[in-house]
Amino acid sequence: MHKVLSNSVVKTLISSLRETKTDALRFRHSVKEITKILLAESLKDSALSPHTVQTWNGTETHKILDEASFVIVTVLRAGLPMLESVMETLPHASGGFLAIKRDETTHKSKLYYDRLPDCKDKTVIIVDVMLATGGSLCDAIEVVKAKSPKDIICLNIIGAPEGLKTVEENHPDVDIYISQVDERLNENKFIIPGLGDAGDREYNTPE
Ligand code: PRP
Repeated sequence: MHKVLSNSVVKTLISSLRETKTDALRFRHSVKEITKILLAESLKDSALSPHTVQTWNGTETHKILDEASFVIVTVLRAGLPMLESVMETLPHASGGFLAIKRDETTHKSKLYYDRLPDCKDKTVIIVDVMLATGGSLCDAIEVVKAKSPKDIICLNIIGAPEGLKTVEENHPDVDIYISQVDERLNENKFIIPGLGDAGDREYNTPE
């Protein structure tokens, strides 16, 4: 299943990502804002647990997410601000890291490093800005699946129809929440119109 969250607020934020004059600080900020919208949609029907709080009016029981049942996995580099954004909202979740780089000639993704916490029976939320060919996300999902999670959710900012189809065909059990699906990939497997290389935009490393 995939859901596109192309509402007016998201469209406005994505336009700021497409603007080449947007600097790295603003770019990361917009990525984090969109991530919070994606997160809220992805967890809107999640089970809540009773939680006792001391309020101005005495002891009351309210409902909250079990934050510790979530693992947030980022695909470096571009997904790093997304991990920060989710963990600002769910500070008791665990964080995991995958370094995956797409080869610029073959366009195939390669995993260089993984540092994941225990994922057994947890809900794992994989975050990455771009879903182009889908190779990086498929790699990330496979690494996570080997750790026996309860379920897997993906949050992505921008994608191409080809990559979305690849991930859904290979992993129909994974839910994808994405804020924008663009037209296509070009011959170099860049998303068109896209927003450039998100990792470079976030960290001031123009090729
Ligand atoms: C980008 C992006 C995704 C990947 C998507 O990362 O952040 O991880 O490409 O492409 P795919 O769907 O075709 O696999 P990149 O490899 O450029 O690394 P970076 O984040 O360090 O810039």
